[in-house]
Amino acid sequence: MQKNNNAPLLNAVDLKKYYPVKKGIFSKPQLVKAVDGVSFTLETGKTLAVVGESGCGKSTLGRMLTMIERPTEGDLFYNGQNFLVNDKEVEALRRQKIQIVFQNPYASLNPRKKVGAILEEPLLINTSLSASERKEKVLEMMSKVGLKTEFYDRYPHMFSGGQRQRIAIARGLMLDPDIVVADEPVSALDVSVRAQVLNLMMDLQEEMGLSYVFISHDLSVVEHIADEVMVMYLGRCVEQGETKTIFSNPRHPYTQALLSATPRLEKEHRRERIKLVGELPSPLNPPKGCAFNARCRFATERCQQERPELKTYEDGTKIACFIVE
Ligand SMILES: Nc1ncnc2c1ncn2[C@@H]1O[C@H](COP(=O)(O)OP(=O)(O)O)[C@@H](O)[C@H]1O
Ligand SMILES: [Mg+2]
Repeated sequence: MQKNNNAPLLNAVDLKKYYPVKKGIFSKPQLVKAVDGVSFTLETGKTLAVVGESGCGKSTLGRMLTMIERPTEGDLFYNGQNFLVNDKEVEALRRQKIQIVFQNPYASLNPRKKVGAILEEPLLINTSLSASERKEKVLEMMSKVGLKTEFYDRYPHMFSGGQRQRIAIARGLMLDPDIVVADEPVSALDVSVRAQVLNLMMDLQEEMGLSYVFISHDLSVVEHIADEVMVMYLGRCVEQGETKTIFSNPRHPYTQALLSATPRLEKEHRRERIKLVGELPSPLNPPKGCAFNARCRFATERCQQERPELKTYEDGTKIACFIVE
């Protein structure tokens, strides 16, 4: 594959994932629009955080970036090359270059395999390295992620949650990817070990030149790790911009509400708590107009009728809201 030097490392264009679901045996299948047109670019060494309440489509987006799930519609370009073509070589490249790390390191590690074997597996499947070369790489990766190499023959259950997440991260890095999709990588961890794992991820990013798509329902986690933040609501992006801008001057009412619920250390950033009333509407039955209108403090008649498109503002921030307009 040829590299296009001007193209971003990863470019997602209008990605959609619709799931047909049947309520009863005789009813017509309906469509769940889990992700309904999401676009972004990701540059080398950068982190895009994807945030929003549970059910807004973050994990579905993450799965579409990897080999796990094919978008219903949309494009994905890697260094300017179409990454969704049916081509063995491209699929192999995609499998190597984009890795995913999941939230729950208890469920994602095979309990019957030793750490060494877990980390060796991607090499065994995807490379022709010899047994001793594989072991060498595994030991090297273990020390990179802060695991003692003596742990090579231990089973996952012998580790703490934080250490297990280190194992999961190490496994994701075995094939030397460019991009890691981290789906709530610290959400299952105790607050005390979260910072350690986040720091490890930032160190690894620097050392290996990684780009992250960092998924989190919790905004407070992403402030220090992300360069850019995308806020999702019911399958769509409602606000996207530089982390600094989003945190200091959130403009979409949903972002404002999310952020006001996030504990902040700096006094000047503490704001009046905006209570989010109601729940995320069902993607099976999305509201007319702006999906956020029923919960929005500022909603007008127009917000109930029309859906605001994502608009780009002077500072580069993209926002979908009539009030902001
Ligand atoms: N395989 C599936 N079949 C049907 N609906 C799904 C499937 N996966 C996810 N969904 C629905 O899509 C929406 C988004 O889910 P998800 O991407 O898991 O959100 P998040 O990760 O933000 O919590 C939810 O309403 C969820 O129920
Ligand atoms: Mg999820």
